Amino acid sequence: MPHITVKPFETSVLQKGKYSQTEILFIAKDRHSDDELIGVHHEDESFLLHLKKPKTSSKSKNLWLLKYDKVTRPLKVNLVKQAIANLSKAFEMEVTQSNIAVHPAKVLVSNKYEKNIEDFTNIEFSFESISIEVGFGSGKHLLYQAQKNPNRLFIGIEIHTPSAMQVLKQIELLGLENIWVVNYDARLLLEMIPSNLCSEIFVHFPVPWDKKPQRRVISSSFLQESMRVLKKEGRLELRTDSYKYFWYALDTFLGNKVSKTVVEVRKNEALEVTSKYEARWLKQEKDIYDVYVKSLEKSEERVLNFNFSFNNISYKQEVLDKITSKPLVFVDSFIHFERIFKIKEEAILIKLAFGSFDRPEHKFIFMNKKGAYYFHSNPVKTLTNYKTHLKIMEYLDV
Ligand SMILES: C[S@@+](CC[C@H](N)C(=O)[O-])C[C@H]1O[C@@H](n2cnc3c(N)ncnc32)[C@H](O)[C@@H]1O
Repeated sequence: MPHITVKPFETSVLQKGKYSQTEILFIAKDRHSDDELIGVHHEDESFLLHLKKPKTSSKSKNLWLLKYDKVTRPLKVNLVKQAIANLSKAFEMEVTQSNIAVHPAKVLVSNKYEKNIEDFTNIEFSFESISIEVGFGSGKHLLYQAQKNPNRLFIGIEIHTPSAMQVLKQIELLGLENIWVVNYDARLLLEMIPSNLCSEIFVHFPVPWDKKPQRRVISSSFLQESMRVLKKEGRLELRTDSYKYFWYALDTFLGNKVSKTVVEVRKNEALEVTSKYEARWLKQEKDIYDVYVKSLEKSEERVLNFNFSFNNISYKQEVLDKITSKPLVFVDSFIHFERIFKIKEEAILIKLAFGSFDRPEHKFIFMNKKGAYYFHSNPVKTLTNYKTHLKIMEYLDV
């Protein structure tokens, strides 16, 4: 991910203002370390750059890092690279190492088929039939299906950014008009998809996460959401090479959370297309398991009218005094104020994690004397996030 290494410099030179196409919105200093966050706006996107100042004993080796921030990074890595390049040039930073060369091919990638999680609050699905693929990896199955069914929209959801970028390039090269790529956690995105919309949801070879089961895609809440998103007679298709995951999934699918479904199991079923990942297992003559779950009921509509604004919350010293770094734990959710950054005297930036234990949201809250808001975008509109947001508001109302 983009970063440069620079020699220490006087950071008071960093000021609000426009530097080529990059605007500095604010500089926020960590209360407990020397690190600083730079809020920037570049080509319609706002995000943070992190100036990390690791301390070493040797003065000559004392170098700083100017890098992307994981929580707010835009999908287009080139924006981060350009912003870092503009600021390092404007403030004449002495760069000792860099990986921010902008590759022309990457600039050309179209974003017409790239969707953000926020787009789903008000998106038009102008296709009659829709399928979803969760964790498409190299995209072989997704691209094959989209080519074979030009009148059907395929929503590919992939958490790994380089894979999402790679498939966006392929879409452009193949001239496909019927794929949307969303670089996000599918478990959260699914909650924003309207009910009774899709014919199929593919989950092929999910990571088994034997040691960290909370990271698994398949869970009873994922099953419930899938059944809601699927049309009556629509199908969730799990394909796995892991015997253990197969039994775990079957157990989940037959559990008591969903009342009416048809569950079908197949072993070593050949598909028309073999992903890179599957090819590896086939070579090793591993068994492959499919579990299909058919939705048998029409689901209730989902209304996404949660409001994530902070009514009457604004910055005062009492807020700073109150915020604890110890996680606040509730029955089905938590709030963890991880770090506080000060923006001059009258504003702060709070880094926090909150929401459900297995799918926490990571966000920043910008707060000044006039009010507060999530920088740079609101949380995903799930019920748990909304309920936790109300708790955050209550906590910050001093
Ligand atoms: C083992 S790979 C399989 C890729 C592809 N389906 C195939 O058959 O070759 C699992 C993929 O799921 C993605 N993934 C894991 N958890 C995810 C999540 N919560 N949301 C979206 N994608 C996820 C990973 O990044 C990875 O690309």
